[in-house]
Amino acid sequence: MGMSATNSWWNGAVIYQLIPRSYSDGNGDGIGDLQGLTSRLSYLRWLGVDAIWLTPIYPSPLQDGGYDITDFENIHPELGDLAAFHRLLTVAHGQGIRVILDLVLNHTSQLHPWFQRARWAPKESQERDVYVWSDDPSRYSEAPVLFRNFESSNWQWDEVAGQYYFHRFLRHQPDLNYENPWVQAQMLGVVDFWLERGVDGFRLDAVPFLFETDGTRCEGLPETHDFLKKVRKRVESAGRDILLLAEAIQPVEEAAPYLADDELHGAFNFALTANLFAAVASGRSHNLRLCLNDSQHAVSGCRWALPLRNHDELWLGDGHLVSEEVIKTIRTGLHQGHGHWLNWGINRRLAPLLNGDPRANRLLHALIYSLPGMPCLYYGDELGMGDWPGLRDRDPNRTPMAWTPARNGGFSNAPEPLLVLPPITAPGYDYRVVNVEVQKQLPGSLLNWHRRMLTCRRLLHALRLGDFELLDASHPSVIVFLRCTETMKVLVAANVSAAGASLRLDLSRWEGARTREVLWGCEYPMANKDWFVYLPSYGFSWWLIGEVEDTFK
Ligand code: NOJ
Repeated sequence: MGMSATNSWWNGAVIYQLIPRSYSDGNGDGIGDLQGLTSRLSYLRWLGVDAIWLTPIYPSPLQDGGYDITDFENIHPELGDLAAFHRLLTVAHGQGIRVILDLVLNHTSQLHPWFQRARWAPKESQERDVYVWSDDPSRYSEAPVLFRNFESSNWQWDEVAGQYYFHRFLRHQPDLNYENPWVQAQMLGVVDFWLERGVDGFRLDAVPFLFETDGTRCEGLPETHDFLKKVRKRVESAGRDILLLAEAIQPVEEAAPYLADDELHGAFNFALTANLFAAVASGRSHNLRLCLNDSQHAVSGCRWALPLRNHDELWLGDGHLVSEEVIKTIRTGLHQGHGHWLNWGINRRLAPLLNGDPRANRLLHALIYSLPGMPCLYYGDELGMGDWPGLRDRDPNRTPMAWTPARNGGFSNAPEPLLVLPPITAPGYDYRVVNVEVQKQLPGSLLNWHRRMLTCRRLLHALRLGDFELLDASHPSVIVFLRCTETMKVLVAANVSAAGASLRLDLSRWEGARTREVLWGCEYPMANKDWFVYLPSYGFSWWLIGEVEDTFK
């Protein structure tokens, strides 16, 4: 990692993901919008996040939650306009919050003018060549169908064109043809457009799929990496610190190449996410430790983004992302209820997946807040919000944010039938109880816990920037690691099981050094060879070892 990367704003940053349509409705039409979001930025500052990532805000027929775009350089009229976006950015920056946009490079909506032009244009013409066409739907047959609940092939016959077009996602989302230099130039132009408007970063959707080659899974091909390097050059020419964050649902060793020094700055570590869940599902930390080792070995430093849940299903893949053993552990050990398997994963929000257990919920967040990387918090998970089983596709976990106990959870003034999705009133998760206003006033709430953790984390720069070293926990349910900078050493221990755990740690390396637990604020015995720790059910602790040469002196 070069010097400039170490000083970049995203190092160890906490990223809060939100769906603008579901976050806050500013104009009372039942749909969340940029105006509503702008009015909630003070809440996000209070909570203590560093950046917000907005799922796509562009014009779209919304056949895939806005990932089907008809105009890359505009705002969906239901969300606002470019002036509203400018206001959002100005207020966010004023509050010290960065703004990350979702950039969908791989495909457009079928209603995008480029696609409409392509299907009417003659075969072999420049216009047709903007997408991936074939007379033979058996091409690229080794590329798995990702949305297998909705599609059975990656090819769709087009009557007008008289050819099949390729789509890695829904048939409403034809893949752009990156072999075509015009496509590359257009999409780099889109990057410029948003950079000129002042955004701080891009979450690059579906990056592995830009190019296709027969006989491969069509994922992460060399040409794809070459194009991403061009994107990197382009953002560098802006002369500001712009984060490029890859969404590549691939095993660690396949996701790591996106993090080459001249490519992207960060990538989600979905294999780690799966292993975090599997650890809690089994009460065993072994596979999690292995995955952490692999992740650090593949890319050291703090460049992995660490989500628990997001707006998609919990992606488990076909045994490609993680081992069958991890998949089985999750499927048998976490609460799912009926009908929650979608595509290759599980379609539940975090709290219901954990069967409403706040201890496991805190533990998982405590882990992402202390592991090296960028923790990602999905809107509503700071409250333990529930989901609405039975809604179509991934809508169960995209429901309106719960702000107050008032009508519609304070999300909107519109009559309920007009709302983008129904607010949660499911038992145990009813918005009259699970909402920001109520939890702010309860000192022991999950919301106040998140805020306190983020405050502590901000003070412990070793948790944001420090090196990572796994220690031997000598207990099957516990994971112990060290985060160190030159001036600060933080020891972290976490118990992934529902049973309490006592263990002894060999801290002879720091023999006689002072140890202080930070979260509960208590002194421990001096470091020694036989240092005793007790962690309750799903317990975790952060200890400062020795004196701190700056902040905590
Ligand atoms: C990944 C996004 O997270 C998902 O919501 C979307 O459906 C696909 N990419 C296609 O854009």
